[in-house]
Amino acid sequence: MANSNLRTGVASVILSTGSYLPQKIVTNKDLEKKVDTTDEWIFQRSGIRERRIAAEGETTGDMAIAAARKALESAGLKGSDIDGVIVATTTPDRTFPAVAVKVQAEIGASVGIAFDVQAVCTGFVYALGVADNFIRLGQARRILVIGAEKMSSVINWEDRTTCVLFGDGAGAVILEAQPEGKEGIKGRGIHSTHLYANGAQRDLLYTDGGPSTTGKAGCIVMQGREVFKYAVQYMADVVDEALAANNITAADLDWLVPHQANIRIIEATAKKLDLSMDKVVVTVERHGNTSAASIPLALDEAVRSKKIKKGDLLLLEGMGGGLTWGAALVRY
Ligand code: ACO
Repeated sequence: MANSNLRTGVASVILSTGSYLPQKIVTNKDLEKKVDTTDEWIFQRSGIRERRIAAEGETTGDMAIAAARKALESAGLKGSDIDGVIVATTTPDRTFPAVAVKVQAEIGASVGIAFDVQAVCTGFVYALGVADNFIRLGQARRILVIGAEKMSSVINWEDRTTCVLFGDGAGAVILEAQPEGKEGIKGRGIHSTHLYANGAQRDLLYTDGGPSTTGKAGCIVMQGREVFKYAVQYMADVVDEALAANNITAADLDWLVPHQANIRIIEATAKKLDLSMDKVVVTVERHGNTSAASIPLALDEAVRSKKIKKGDLLLLEGMGGGLTWGAALVRY
């Protein structure tokens, strides 16, 4: 049972968003000098023109902290107002402890839960689902949910089939427990989350290393065409499930905020929903695939550019290694 829309009288409301992108821009033209590829091939197949790459020594934790500070500033909160930190990442600073405890300490959060969630590109949706359950069950009051990745640390820069796709960055939201109103879907907060994995497909996308195998993080290995096929199918299924669970149709949505892996997957999902691309937040052209960071990065950009406004109904969705996939329906 991966669908959670338990009613407890408490709603997890997004108070604010924040994000961080490293300074360094690497364009497709730059990659033409490293591997046998072209700007045209990359853009046509993926919709990507450029991505950000973390500076030497800049870690996932550093980016997560920067995004967290932006979210705190937007909410007008101090670190001590936060009693939970959940970081979705697949590229942690260290094997342990979690990136979340570094964030917790650096922002001065109260002692409470702090841990990482690893579901690759679906990580942020998973983390949102986990945080929502903690809040609805009264185990935390305000949780910073962050997606942060240094994908450049697990890229084989000689493999043209993967190195052109990924980028680095971080995005964050602050969730707060608020009384659940009687207005149903019109009320603010997370209305439902839908989380899935099919471990039989774990060899379609993985890193060829890890602490208990090679002792090194390894690099991304992907069967792109296969992943693409399942991505389109799973996204279509999970968005339908999220709409049905809330008795709404795609016409009720204000924005689709998808994981930014490939513009063709995003367009296929929008088409399936019969949703105009004007209602889809797209950042893949400038960010590439930042894995767990891509959804909160896209969300923050759309909030700051005033596309997404308070009260808008958002459908967040993503898929990634595992294979994992999921969606969340949220009234911002
Ligand atoms: N430049 C030029 N040519 C290339 C490149 C490149 N960078 N990479 C591959 N090619 C070549 C291939 O070798 C192949 O050549 P061939 O026909 O002579 O064998 C040809 O281009 C076509 O390759 P395909 O892999 O079939 O290309 P496709 O249209 O499938 O696009 C892509 C590849 C962009 C990777 C696509 O399959 C995709 O987006 N897949 C899904 C990725 C994704 O969504 N991942 C999910 C999340 S990631 C995560 O969880 C970490």
